[in-house]
Amino acid sequence: MAVLEKNQLLETLAGLSQKSWLEALDAVEASIHEVDREATRIWFAFWPLELQEALGSGDDPKQMAKVMDLEGEWTLDEAIDASVSFLYGAHHWPATKKAILAHGGPATSLSQTIQDLAGKVAASEKVDVSLVTGITAVGLMMLRIVGDDALSAVVDHPASGDLLPKDPGRVLSNRKRESRDGLFTFLRGVNRRWDVRWDESRRDGVYRAINQQDLAMAGASAEGDYRSLDYRRIDGPVPVECRVGSCGYCWVGLLAGKDNLTPITPFEQERLRYFGYDTVNGEADSHPLVRLACQAQCHGDVTVTIPPWNGELKRRHDTGRDKLGTS
Ligand code: FES
Repeated sequence: MAVLEKNQLLETLAGLSQKSWLEALDAVEASIHEVDREATRIWFAFWPLELQEALGSGDDPKQMAKVMDLEGEWTLDEAIDASVSFLYGAHHWPATKKAILAHGGPATSLSQTIQDLAGKVAASEKVDVSLVTGITAVGLMMLRIVGDDALSAVVDHPASGDLLPKDPGRVLSNRKRESRDGLFTFLRGVNRRWDVRWDESRRDGVYRAINQQDLAMAGASAEGDYRSLDYRRIDGPVPVECRVGSCGYCWVGLLAGKDNLTPITPFEQERLRYFGYDTVNGEADSHPLVRLACQAQCHGDVTVTIPPWNGELKRRHDTGRDKLGTS
């Protein structure tokens, strides 16, 4: 009976489009604690349903990955516990997975299911439900993408990697803390420099940017061995190749400070659309959550998170079918 119920949940989730998922996120957004509101949307941008559907649509996912010029680590099955580490709710990841796998079937809607399950996780973890609503939405999409066998195999595993401080207030105050130069900008004039936090869980997860410098170029001055973290990070914490908006390596999610970047230009907007990175960006939003680091210049402190892959999702539609010889 439990297996049947689990399949019913998966079947229902499998019938939902990316648009339906984002509408459900809209519906629960106000219920997500501020500490994870942006992070939840960014996770959905980093792991779009379209990518998973594209990889599963042909006989050979590796060939499809070549068609889409994927680089990095794009397989969510292998990153179940790593992909959530930038969310505060990662502290409650095992409990979230358990609640989802034990769930019989969706309630009346996806948004209601998210809220019902988040209530169960909150009760078991003895925390406010707002702190686990985002990670519950992520967990449901995880189930949709990787399936219940893969999720069950790691159900007891904690989120991998270093996590954010346990106190959500501290996370928020760290994000809002002005850099030393920020406090004395009136003294430094055009020589102002800003903090770019690229990994909130690391003590050294911050580099400095000159006023109006783009996030990718500023990262090049950061000292450290970033290639050992990700082979695409050849010149600082942010993966880069072209530096002119052509390659798509440098996309980032803005956890805080998005208004401290220059407004998005029509060119950057078009490039984000081309790569398929713009799934959570509002069309009219001048400062969206997902940006190309080489196109966004900063005039204040920002906190970003970096996806583990890059590619051209749209090529599947524009040229991929031809390349694969399918109709
Ligand atoms: S480095 Fe190529 S798009 Fe930014």
